Amino acid sequence: MASVTVIGAQWGDEGKGKIVDWLASRADAVVRFQGGHNAGHTLVVGEQVYKLSLLPSGIVTGTLSIIGNGVVLDPWALKAEFDKLTGQGVTINADNFAIADNCPLILPLHRDLDGLREQAAGSGKIGTTGRGIGPAYEDKVGRRAIRVCDLAHLDALDSQLDRLCAHHDALRAGFGQPPVDRAALLADLAEIAPFVLQFAQPVWKRLNKVRKAGARILFEGAQGVLLDVDHGTYPFVTSSNTVSGTAASGSGLGPNATGFVLGIVKAYTTRVGSGPFPTELEDETGQRLGERGHEFGTVTGRKRRCGWFDAVLVRQSCAISGVTGIALTKLDVLDGFDKVKICTGYRLRGKVLDYFPSHAADQAAVEPIYEEMDGWQGTTAGARSWADLPAQAIKYIQRVQELIETPVALVSTSPEREDTILVRDPFVD
Ligand code: GDP
Ligand code: IMO
Ligand code: MG
Repeated sequence: MASVTVIGAQWGDEGKGKIVDWLASRADAVVRFQGGHNAGHTLVVGEQVYKLSLLPSGIVTGTLSIIGNGVVLDPWALKAEFDKLTGQGVTINADNFAIADNCPLILPLHRDLDGLREQAAGSGKIGTTGRGIGPAYEDKVGRRAIRVCDLAHLDALDSQLDRLCAHHDALRAGFGQPPVDRAALLADLAEIAPFVLQFAQPVWKRLNKVRKAGARILFEGAQGVLLDVDHGTYPFVTSSNTVSGTAASGSGLGPNATGFVLGIVKAYTTRVGSGPFPTELEDETGQRLGERGHEFGTVTGRKRRCGWFDAVLVRQSCAISGVTGIALTKLDVLDGFDKVKICTGYRLRGKVLDYFPSHAADQAAVEPIYEEMDGWQGTTAGARSWADLPAQAIKYIQRVQELIETPVALVSTSPEREDTILVRDPFVD
């Protein structure tokens, strides 16, 4: 298998950015295939910290980086990130960066609607990142979207804008908001268009060409399987399919091109935003996990909710996404705990379940059944080989892979790129 698809197997923030960056130097191209700037991927290389939301994580190693058609693209957010990264010394040009010309755009009116809905929902809110992701995907499937290729034809946009604005003006009126300022929108688009267009192309063509030449492609997922619009904790999900299958449709390659599916799995569980979370710990232990793991959102700065490892959820994610092997991250955060717990099943109204049910009320009502293990003395932080790990930490890893029915391919022991243990090379297997 020459290609690798990286996906989050929990509720996002599993450490996808770190793992993609580590793998990127051995890949010929890195492709984002869904989501948008709701993602926040952190890369730590020596003293430098890079936070990427839209740019594929391969850009930092100079690997060809591609934004696929499955992404929703905010051109102004892209420009801001481009400026930030080039300011940090990263080279981004038309040789190493391309954007699918059929990518739908996120416009200011999408961000407005995201905010208005969340505000109106009060305590029933989803807890979105406020980036306009949901409304932009709605317009894509509603066949109203403005796309990257339209930026080259702004003078011919009238009928498309009629359709888009008719829809949004009605919604905005419902929230007591003025209609879309079409002239301002067009002026803003005209200003940003040249920046975006220098990178725009039919990327399916470029990807198919490099694939035929034997290139190794690294597909970079955003969010996680439990935030998938079909398989996640609906309605507390994002608006895209985050499962591995999206790598093909979101980039313009066939499903036989996506290779080894590497599920990124945190050694415990976190979630940002609202929604069910069976193993959530609202006590000192949860606090300790959050502090040791620095669990604050990369995008919004919100405190992440924390809890024990949930093997039921991860087993389900691995099955749904056909995960070949996992990268177990943040093992070091569990250093120093006397006891660690793993959820192995649920109790729901007197019944035992070995899976996460679909209905929101059932998802909120399940109670975790735990297995307790001894923690480990000593530290895993910074370990770069299996031999560096305490025996009890190895037992924990082995128990995790047994329960999730999926082997461990990588173990990550700190934010730093090189603090990674290779168990099984995903590019070779
Ligand atoms: P992503 O969205 O999946 O890319 O993950 P984020 O970057 O949002 O969050 C993961 C956080 O954990 C980042 O701050 C990483 O630098 C950090 N991180 C990644 N791997 C490890 C690890 O093995 N140990 C520790 N302590 N931190 C890690
Ligand atoms: P990365 O790629 C964690 C969550 C939001 C909210 C829900 C819907 O860094 O793992 P949206 O703005 O997408 O409509 O919000 O999804 N969410 C994430 N949580 N990591 C992410 O990305 C996320 N992207 C969206 O908090 O609960
Ligand atoms: Mg993140």
